[in-house]
Amino acid sequence: MTPEQAEARLAWLATEIARHNALYHAEDAPEITDAEYDVLVRENSAIEAAFPALRRADSPSQKVGAAPAGHLAKVAHALPMLSLDNAFADEDVAEFIARIRRYLSLDSGEPVVLTAEPKIDGLSCSLRYEKGVLVLAATRGDGMTGEDVTANVRSIDDIPDRLSGPVPDIFEVRGEVYMAKDAFVALNERLIADAEDPAKARQFANPRNAAAGSLRQKDPAVTASRPLRFLAHGWGEASALPADTQKGVMDAIADWGLPVSDDLVRVDGLEQTLAHYRGIEARRADLPFDIDGVVYKVDRLDWQKRLGFVAKAPRWAIAHKFPAQQAQTTLNAIDIQVGRTGKLTPVARLEPVTVGGVVVTNATLHNADEIVRLGVRPGDRVVLQRAGDVIPQIVDNLTRDVVREPYIFPQTCRECGSLATREEGEVDYRCTGGLICPAQRVERLRHFVSRYALDIEGLGLTHIESFFHDDLIHSPADIYRLHLKRDELIAREGWKDKSVDNLIAAIEAKRTPPLDRLLFGLGIRHVGQVTARDLARRYRDWNGLADVLAHIADHRTAAVPAVGETHDKFRQRVAKEMAAIIETPGIGPEVAHALADFFAEPHNRAVVDDLLGQVQVQPVIHETRASSVSGKTVVFTGSLETMSRDEAKAQAEALGAKVSGSVSAKTDLVVAGPGAGSKLKKAADLGIKTIDEAGWAEIVSNS
Ligand code: IVH
Repeated sequence: MTPEQAEARLAWLATEIARHNALYHAEDAPEITDAEYDVLVRENSAIEAAFPALRRADSPSQKVGAAPAGHLAKVAHALPMLSLDNAFADEDVAEFIARIRRYLSLDSGEPVVLTAEPKIDGLSCSLRYEKGVLVLAATRGDGMTGEDVTANVRSIDDIPDRLSGPVPDIFEVRGEVYMAKDAFVALNERLIADAEDPAKARQFANPRNAAAGSLRQKDPAVTASRPLRFLAHGWGEASALPADTQKGVMDAIADWGLPVSDDLVRVDGLEQTLAHYRGIEARRADLPFDIDGVVYKVDRLDWQKRLGFVAKAPRWAIAHKFPAQQAQTTLNAIDIQVGRTGKLTPVARLEPVTVGGVVVTNATLHNADEIVRLGVRPGDRVVLQRAGDVIPQIVDNLTRDVVREPYIFPQTCRECGSLATREEGEVDYRCTGGLICPAQRVERLRHFVSRYALDIEGLGLTHIESFFHDDLIHSPADIYRLHLKRDELIAREGWKDKSVDNLIAAIEAKRTPPLDRLLFGLGIRHVGQVTARDLARRYRDWNGLADVLAHIADHRTAAVPAVGETHDKFRQRVAKEMAAIIETPGIGPEVAHALADFFAEPHNRAVVDDLLGQVQVQPVIHETRASSVSGKTVVFTGSLETMSRDEAKAQAEALGAKVSGSVSAKTDLVVAGPGAGSKLKKAADLGIKTIDEAGWAEIVSNS
């Protein structure tokens, strides 16, 4: 490297690192992974070591206290930190209550008491107290693993190091770390006052980002200088509970010395619930902190337990969001993004505008129909809406009447030139290029390494793109062969021995993926995280899954349309039959179809086989309680009186049993309620053990 090159590179690194700092801290929207960030910082230091005279005044190596939170240690949560489903309209709240009634099979006279409290716009944090002493504080992270912020949390006045009074041996308080509105304004003013060049001073976009940026600091002194607050809203692991209601436990948490919202109340029935919501909404602007809705939770903890969870949110709680915030701006251009499955998504490029405290430059236009519905063309004035964390949307066009050329949705993929088509009944155009489309291949690779799939750190979008274009990786298996190209990697601009070794180590660490992550990582249409987990639990290892996939493929090949059956009907019937063969709760015809489509393609099979040669897939074990019905097949028939069918099914599955809809020789147990008919008779004929609902309740409570 010549001194001129070094100087230019240092200048570039200073700007680039500052930009990533701002994205991470100010906007809480990093574009690169922590490992990629580290590569930049290390390159900067290495060049400075070689050319000390060229060190810049604004060098990233000279900044103190701005160490990124990327260095915080990871911690696994004892119990997952969940999120909440959202309600937007009053009807959604009515349906939430009705669903609880149905699930618990409540009599119409029985009240469903809820708690209602503000939904604070901060970041959630779990505080673990052992024998009343704070031992660990962690951010939510992905819900399973968060970041250790114990040292930082100790400087928050609201959070005591020791709880007062007798407390359970283990108690994790969960709540929101936030920054009050006036403190946020003062902090931004201070950042300007302290900056050498006020025009370039870092500013936080809103109190939430300020709280996140302040808490996730490497240096606890920085956190201590920021006015953070805490409000408890729940709990995680607890060796004992001080009450049997949500309100009761929250009152106890307040007694132990942690802040709980003054606006936490019990409400009974839809009318009271909505009245409380309106009351809080009216006071929203006067509250000292930002809130974005009201959270309702079932008060009785025994009911919460019965209601359980769906995917990542509890059935017993919901966030009733305030209406979205809107702003007007100009649509500068419409770009088309090509997704992993070829879906073409139009994206609006906007004149930057602030909506609800956040600067927005892009919004989704969803699909071609949406563009027609809005009649938008580049140059139009549009109304933009932002609700919570949802991607901003364009909801209205103010220049519809002005004469301008209509926007024509592209009929070919801009990435590979293949035809873009739209199947009947579908809203999206798709690039038909499949794996010849570089955008789809890059997106698939990106998905494969992403956080909830293989989670390979340090392999961000820019690396995947450049490795792909330089023929270093074409398929997932190639990633596991990168170590064979170590020299080639080191020779690349921006890479060194150390950074390449770090990348290789990160890849090696993910050579034994659990089946569900691998399956999700393949990026099969309709196979999301939950579906992948369901399949992995049902089939445990790759071989089990491969057998059933071969089985459905055979079934599809052998199927023939019935006389007079239309193509669509035939497809639907076969998909249903394939879903029945898969025999996995929650997996329907759509997924069965997508799996068959994916594995029918020889290229996909070759990609998967190649990958399986590189990794050792770990079986997934369904965490269930050992019980007398583990591994057994149970049939529920007749009407159930104390619970709904869904709840009974969930109970059986939690005990490791399989629930079937029909009685056969494979059935082990029939639970029959009043009105049971042919199934009960068949069970008797086959000599299958039959019990009533009370008998079932006994099995559940004994397990
Ligand atoms: S309860 C299992 N209550 O909202 C239920 N969450 O959108 C877990 N939040 O991750 C959450 N105020 O960080 C709950 N009063 C409140 C809340 C609240 C803010 C956050 C929390 C959660 C997110 C879900």
